[in-house]
Amino acid sequence: MELSGKRILLIISGGIAAYKSLDLIRRLRERGASVRPIMTKAAQEFITPLAVGALSASHVYVDLFSREDEQDVGHIRLAREADLVIVAPASADLMAKMAHGMASDLASAVLLATDRPVLIAPAMNPKMWAARATLRNAETLKNDGIHFIGPSRGEMAESNEAGTGRMAEPMEIVAAAITLLQEGGEKPLAGKTAIVTSGPTHEPIDPVRYIANRSSGRQGHAIAAALAKLGARVTLVSGPVTIPDPEGVETVHVETAQEMLQAVVGYLPADIAVMVAAVADWRVATSAGQKIKKQPGEAPPPLQLTENPDILKTVGHHAQRPRIVVGFAAETQDVEANGRAKLERKGADLIVANDVSPGTGVMGGSRNRVNIITAEGIDAWPDLSKDEVAERLATLIAQKLS
Ligand code: C5P
Repeated sequence: MELSGKRILLIISGGIAAYKSLDLIRRLRERGASVRPIMTKAAQEFITPLAVGALSASHVYVDLFSREDEQDVGHIRLAREADLVIVAPASADLMAKMAHGMASDLASAVLLATDRPVLIAPAMNPKMWAARATLRNAETLKNDGIHFIGPSRGEMAESNEAGTGRMAEPMEIVAAAITLLQEGGEKPLAGKTAIVTSGPTHEPIDPVRYIANRSSGRQGHAIAAALAKLGARVTLVSGPVTIPDPEGVETVHVETAQEMLQAVVGYLPADIAVMVAAVADWRVATSAGQKIKKQPGEAPPPLQLTENPDILKTVGHHAQRPRIVVGFAAETQDVEANGRAKLERKGADLIVANDVSPGTGVMGGSRNRVNIITAEGIDAWPDLSKDEVAERLATLIAQKLS
């Protein structure tokens, strides 16, 4: 597990986002971390120490002047006995205290005393986040080496205001924590190579027309970036998309399925292949060299289609087959059964099956709910952002390779 044996000191300050900290505690512990919580007075107005204590299986520290706690652990030990300090949510008030070196309660005293890396997840009303004082404090904290995750844009929980101020999702905070704890350490995919396909393909009808699909490339690009973040050398073979090339990745641009296949096979051997592209199943048998003209009174021209090569299947059965081959299954029905069948047929180790029925918003959208299908069984992941799916998948691939 990515956080095995890691000790996390979690400081929860006041704000409606405090309820998400309960989920954060679960997510951190799921990955092997131990969590020691500190709550500010304001945090206890939103969630109870009882809930925090139960989920963390730890004593909850709330008071700087508690004789018991000070004898038992003491705020200096609390500050030092951690691999990482996370502040989530970080209120405007606590950020101001941190920026000015105040130590008027347990949370601020510990933050002043710690020599450990600190990751903060600000959460507040958009007006408070945009206030000059808060921006000044954030700048100071960044200069002091404090790491930030979020805030993100979106609807506020307490009002129907939208803007920047939402706390990052627990899984994003977990991913940031993993990255911080891994920096300096060996990255799990260091020395490994990966090929990822992404986006749609365009199959020409004539020089100006083509057959395409609604794939945006967001999921594939995010996976390429996530693998690179874990240290892999990644080649991304992308169909035509409007999103930018991911950082830290070598991106090759292609148009058609045939070009995509050629590029992918050209980059073998590799340790990992993740075929995410929505490759067109068919292309026009003989695309016209000149623009097909509409002739008055004539019937529309027939389109003769022919099958495209299956890139995943080719890679899955290749003499230089990567050790881990991952495919996607965009289904609108029988997601699990079709995913399992695909695993076999394509020679893949893992199929990420998602439901792309109309109304799910998966195709072209930014969120995804997937099922991970392997020979061992099926694992249903919750509704996540495509970045979160990518990070989890990259971590899973790293585990399978190790
Ligand atoms: O057979 P189906 O298109 O449902 O399979 C989806 C999976 O196969 C995806 O991983 C996709 O990238 C891959 N695929 C491919 N080449 C094709 C068709 C699909 O690599 N021609």
